[in-house]
Amino acid sequence: MNVFVVGANGKVARHFADFVKDDSTIREVAMIRKAEQADFFEERGIETVLLDLVKNSIEEIAEAMRGVDAVIFSAGAGGSGLEKTILIDLDGAIKAMTAAEQAGIKRFIMVSTFRTGREEMAREHELQIYTIAKNYADEWLKNRTNLDWTIVHPGILINVPGTGRIKVGMGHDINEIPRQDVAQTLVSVLRNDNTVKKEFEVLAGDSDVEEAVRRL
Ligand SMILES: NC(=O)c1ccc[n+]([C@@H]2O[C@H](COP(=O)([O-])OP(=O)(O)OC[C@H]3O[C@@H](n4cnc5c(N)ncnc54)[C@H](OP(=O)(O)O)[C@@H]3O)[C@@H](O)[C@H]2O)c1
Repeated sequence: MNVFVVGANGKVARHFADFVKDDSTIREVAMIRKAEQADFFEERGIETVLLDLVKNSIEEIAEAMRGVDAVIFSAGAGGSGLEKTILIDLDGAIKAMTAAEQAGIKRFIMVSTFRTGREEMAREHELQIYTIAKNYADEWLKNRTNLDWTIVHPGILINVPGTGRIKVGMGHDINEIPRQDVAQTLVSVLRNDNTVKKEFEVLAGDSDVEEAVRRL
């Protein structure tokens, strides 16, 4: 299976690259923004394409995606400002979805935020605009595309080694999850088609990643 990763140089996606680099069943194509980011992927035998969600057109992104079986969206503006949040987390996500459809790809996996929905969007908090952007990107994916989507809602991402054990479902209280465990969850989502048209929260937990995803 060929997988196109948008936001491939991100902290979650780099763990994903480490999971798939020696996997004979998953071949990654990494979408990066800067030539100097290519070394990390070349060392792992992973092909790169240089594209930017804001600067490049849907057609250019679609051209690069052509021939792959699935897209993972793990890009984000991070803390780089509200304009960037709208440009990348909202419009960039929709550009990636539209490009996937233009390229004839069905499978699309979104790394969303933990909680979306009206209540969370209305609440005044530091991540309110980000939550709104992620919410409507998810809504677009579910309601305005014909993609075979999965939406993963991770808790607070932390940079400690993964445990390979998670908790999945909906309606949990927020908690943390190592980025490495989110990446492993994305690998399991790719392998398990029972996750098509499903969304779920993922937190640190007690269940083996593959088992938890297979049971969804
Ligand atoms: N932080 C949290 O607790 C939390 C919780 C839930 C969900 N999330 C979401 O989880 C996802 C992955 O998180 P992460 O920690 O891996 O994020 P990250 O390290 O900030 O990675 C984001 C990636 O997006 C890329 N990007 C930014 N602007 C772009 C553009 N215009 N075109 C193409 N790519 C662009 C960045 O590229 P460069 O490397 O070139 O900068 C970076 O590689 C994000 O979508 C985030 O919103 C985060």
